[in-house]
Amino acid sequence: MKALVLAGGTGSRMRPLTHTAAKQLIPVGNKPILFYGLEALVAAGVTEIGIVVGDTHREIRDAVGDGGRFGARVTYLRQERPLGLAHAVLIASDFLADDDFVLYLGDNFLVGGIDEVVADFRAARPDAGVLLTRVPDPSAFGVAELGPDGRLARLEEKPAEPRSDLAVVGVYLFTPVIHEAVRAVEPSPRGELEITDALQWLIDQGHVVRPTLVKGYWKDTGTAADLLAVNRTVLDGLTPEVRGTVDEGSVISGRVRVEPGARVVRSRVVGPAVIGAGAEVVDSCVGPYTALAEGCRVVRSGVADSIVLSRAEIAGVGRVEASLVGRDASVHSTDHVSTAHRLVLGDHSSVHIGH
Ligand code: TTP
Repeated sequence: MKALVLAGGTGSRMRPLTHTAAKQLIPVGNKPILFYGLEALVAAGVTEIGIVVGDTHREIRDAVGDGGRFGARVTYLRQERPLGLAHAVLIASDFLADDDFVLYLGDNFLVGGIDEVVADFRAARPDAGVLLTRVPDPSAFGVAELGPDGRLARLEEKPAEPRSDLAVVGVYLFTPVIHEAVRAVEPSPRGELEITDALQWLIDQGHVVRPTLVKGYWKDTGTAADLLAVNRTVLDGLTPEVRGTVDEGSVISGRVRVEPGARVVRSRVVGPAVIGAGAEVVDSCVGPYTALAEGCRVVRSGVADSIVLSRAEIAGVGRVEASLVGRDASVHSTDHVSTAHRLVLGDHSSVHIGH
């Protein structure tokens, strides 16, 4: 069994970070979201992995390499344009050959792994398998309708009037019959070859698509709010460990990881929180639910419920909350008293200013 991991796409909902970086590499709990998926595949015994990449291919290659550090063997497959999930399967047909495979969306986060799902699929070997989970707002997802036999009867992409509360999770299992389906479907109104249409084609042709209900936490990380939610989930399971330095004037409480070379000076860190390698926290309060990536500086500031990417700097700012701060970004206070805000923002940035 192989895997096809999708790490292309445009990531338009995650701009401006995705103007310069792959959304699948945004860290949650200081680890790229993509790595959780790769680890779940390897844990399930799937080590032959194709990664579909687009414009951000260099960054993904630099981060994942040949897959050896995950115990996997990775082949990169270049998709010239993000023409849909079924299009990604289409361009990967030589790599996938006649093998069964797991299709894993590189920006999806699933707690609990896929060991059992993969084992069940191998044993029962239906034509395809989808994972479903109950959600309160199904109209934002692919929605599944089950038949009386418990098989998948119908799939609808973001329906205005959902027929169930069962959302399709971004992990699918396929036998080679999917290659016929992705060749048969036409582009949707948004111009993409949809995996939902390919699955519906399988159902219409009388193939068995087996649904499995997943009970664990799942998130498709399309937006900053999604990433912050996943960050909170990951940090809740953090193993506390102080490998950097914490001075006597500082207080650490709860689950906190201070990575090597990090320094905490006259500060309070409230877990769950992680302070990345070489980061500095001085005269500040960090956490809960905060991940500072490597080389960040937080000085005379408060940061809570946030993800701060590499080398960003926050200085003299009372409280930053529910925020995603990009690489090398800086958030500073000025000396003079003013009610005006001075901003240098990238395209598609969003800033919320309280009164
Ligand atoms: P989406 O989140 O559906 O699409 P996107 O990345 O283009 O994001 P947005 O809607 O914000 O513009 O994609 C799910 C995953 O699949 C994600 O990791 C990107 C990847 N993908 C591809 O690799 N190729 C594609 O053609 C598409 C559409 C997505």
